[in-house]
Amino acid sequence: MRAFPATTGIPGMNSTIAARNFPGRIEGVNPFRVLVVLNRAAELERQGRKIVHMGAGEPDFSTAEPIREAAKRALDAGFTQYTQAAGIPELRECLVAHYRERHGLELPAERILITLGASGGLAILSHLLVRPGSGVLMTDPSYPCYRSLVRLAGAEPQLLPVGVEDDFQPTAELLEQGCRGNTAGLWLASPGNPTGAVIPRQQLHRINDWAEAKGLYQLFDETYHGLHYVDDMPSILEISPRAFVVNSFSKYFGMTGWRLGWIVVPEEHVEAANILAQNLFISPSSFSQRAALAAFEPEAQQIFEQRRAAFRERRDYLAAELGKLGMLLPREIQGAFYAYANIAAFSNDSEAFCRELLENHGVAITPGTDFGDGNGNEYVRLAFTTGMEELRLGVERLRRALDR
Ligand SMILES: Cc1ncc(COP(=O)(O)O)c(C=O)c1O
Repeated sequence: MRAFPATTGIPGMNSTIAARNFPGRIEGVNPFRVLVVLNRAAELERQGRKIVHMGAGEPDFSTAEPIREAAKRALDAGFTQYTQAAGIPELRECLVAHYRERHGLELPAERILITLGASGGLAILSHLLVRPGSGVLMTDPSYPCYRSLVRLAGAEPQLLPVGVEDDFQPTAELLEQGCRGNTAGLWLASPGNPTGAVIPRQQLHRINDWAEAKGLYQLFDETYHGLHYVDDMPSILEISPRAFVVNSFSKYFGMTGWRLGWIVVPEEHVEAANILAQNLFISPSSFSQRAALAAFEPEAQQIFEQRRAAFRERRDYLAAELGKLGMLLPREIQGAFYAYANIAAFSNDSEAFCRELLENHGVAITPGTDFGDGNGNEYVRLAFTTGMEELRLGVERLRRALDR
């Protein structure tokens, strides 16, 4: 890459909350850099520039038609009021069936609460689980909001560096090394964002044994379930009935803007989770929930599987091309729709790298600094949430930017 700027990234990326001196706990919470990239990309588009979008963690496909039609019917029927805080019983029953069919589990519907996206679920669980002053183990890199939510609860994110050599997921041994006196629990994701890495079943067993022996709670983010390219995609609930799970209608079900997700909590926490849901959100969106019922019909499921196949094709293409460009990738992208690429051969400042790519080459990607404090400067995340033609254009522009 020529004329490489050594200074800061995209404007706004480094603004710190601390500098503004708010009285609350927001101090230390970082901006979501991917959104800064998206805003800047939109600004450039308004100026007439053509941008290839590989930034947002959001499927490019619009929500499947059967779901859209169900939403129209819900609206026409006037289904617009608040619902129960934990969601409508029919949708919770659909999820009971979902766990039965996909994971061979019999979960009582009471243990499943519908939330405002996985984000709403994480908010409820952070209030339920995170005690001020305690520590929470999580990987570096991982989804940025985990660190923010733990900090907002007055606790300490305890970052566990994982790399290509660990397949970007922790082992029980690594967790043991990161565990401190105040560690109270762990927040893990499989498949993970930004790496798509899946924790294999045996490794999950060992992590669970270790956490149980230590008396730590386990929160597993299964938001990318369904969007996996490995044969075995276990839920932690198959291994530990005591784990807390968060999941989403955003990704596999393609419903980002509808703001729906769910959590599964152990029996003894159901009441507290309900109280938190009432206080934080009153209820999830009523007509979104009605619409989501259609996501469990065969017609919609067929569309999801077609889309998963399209993501797999994009993954195969992008992984091969990035490899040719000299970017180091995980051994295999096992899930989600991200390529987490090492750019150390080109730069040690991923924010400047992303700025250069966006401003001068019209490709929007996310700096690795969004996902951790460690070596995020050597990584970027490329989302294959755009069609093959756009991906080819993106790769072409990347090749030119890197002088390859
Ligand atoms: C790992 C992970 N968890 C949770 C979320 C939040 O998703 P939503 O609130 O749209 O369900 C995301 C979004 O990108 C994510 O990547």
